[in-house]
Amino acid sequence: MPTVLITGAASGIGRDTARLFAGAGWQCVLVDNNEQALYLSGQGLPSPASGVHVLRTIDLTDPRQIASLCEGTPELDAVINNAGMSDTSNTPLAAQGQAQLDRLLALNLAAPAAVVDACTHLLKAGARIVNVASGAGLHAIPWRGAYSPSKAGLIAQTLALAKARPDWCVTVLAPGFVRTELVDGLIQAGRLRPERAVAKIPLGRMAVPEEMARALYFLASTGAQPLSGQVLAVNGGSSVYGGSQPFAPATLQPRPFDMPLHLEVCGGEAAPWKAVAQAPAEGAHYAACLDLSPLHCESTCLLEAVHAAAARFAARCAEQASLTLMLPFEKAGRWQDAGDAAAARMLVSTLACEWGPRALRINALEVPREVDPAALHPLLRFVCGSAAQYLTGQTIACRGAVPQESP
Ligand code: NAI
Repeated sequence: MPTVLITGAASGIGRDTARLFAGAGWQCVLVDNNEQALYLSGQGLPSPASGVHVLRTIDLTDPRQIASLCEGTPELDAVINNAGMSDTSNTPLAAQGQAQLDRLLALNLAAPAAVVDACTHLLKAGARIVNVASGAGLHAIPWRGAYSPSKAGLIAQTLALAKARPDWCVTVLAPGFVRTELVDGLIQAGRLRPERAVAKIPLGRMAVPEEMARALYFLASTGAQPLSGQVLAVNGGSSVYGGSQPFAPATLQPRPFDMPLHLEVCGGEAAPWKAVAQAPAEGAHYAACLDLSPLHCESTCLLEAVHAAAARFAARCAEQASLTLMLPFEKAGRWQDAGDAAAARMLVSTLACEWGPRALRINALEVPREVDPAALHPLLRFVCGSAAQYLTGQTIACRGAVPQESP
């Protein structure tokens, strides 16, 4: 029975994440400083096959309390550092005292490292560490105190941990807007206007907590290995959008997040990818296309290959489907050709913005040309499928993907 420790499990993303793991048979160690809400969150969970879920009331801004985590915690397959806070005080940064900055930085930046330190000896070989940062760590959001700096720090810290511990799978999730208590608090405090936020999201909606829970569930699985050392930005395309025309609110409701996936493979030999998903095309399913053609084209023709693949897909799929492209992970030989791969990546992002209102998603995976397909099956199942309906416009580098061994 796998075991996961989840911080901030009493509310929002953490609560839904706990529900998903427990429902899948994991034993959960749930950590929060809100004792009553933590109890309620733990109460509704299905029991693990053996033992019980462990609830720990801990203030994660206090290093001594974090150090006590090692007592009574079982061995762990995964740790999810999810607890975090925003700053709703509306106090300009320059007018804030060190104490106000310190509390937020203690929770958002210092606590994830201290939790890993406290649990290091409990982590099984090949453990997964997932930190929950934010899109705010990639782009500055003013009037929220040190929120953006704390999340930028957490992203850098996670990438450094991935380098320091190549024996673990270390990733960072950067969610966009998710309708949780934290966001409701910002709305109530007048710090966030939901209609303005949605106008900058190509998919035209905020995520629901379960969408982040599904992303965390994938990142905490062994199948996330190709992503070690990477940021996964799940934000409806908001991080890639640079236009000025507002997006209209979405008219399409997301499809169920556990919908069977029907994957069509084109642009290369399909057989090695067939095991990704086999749902029949008849009956309710989420339609997806995996296009391998950019992986097999000349490294100077990537833009052309991405455009052709997108045109083929758009001619077949009208709405609520995904296109995933494989791009080769290599540097151009001549400087004159160095723009092609970057142009292809930006084409993926631009298409995501144009397609967002129809909930048509497009993402690319950057992989070594000789990649072992089996190593990517779980990742593709997630990226192509209905669980990742808030993921679009991203080129995801699979640096941890192991090249296929030559016979
Ligand atoms: P939330 O406010 O609904 O839940 C946060 C949880 O952390 C709560 O259960 C709270 O009691 C707990 N917590 C707060 N201070 C604590 C402390 N000192 N010690 C222990 N636990 C503490 O927040 P939400 O929205 O679920 O966010 C979860 C994570 O996702 C946070 O790190 C947040 O920064 C991040 N995030 C959220 C986004 C959103 O739109 N909701 C967007 C981007 C990132």
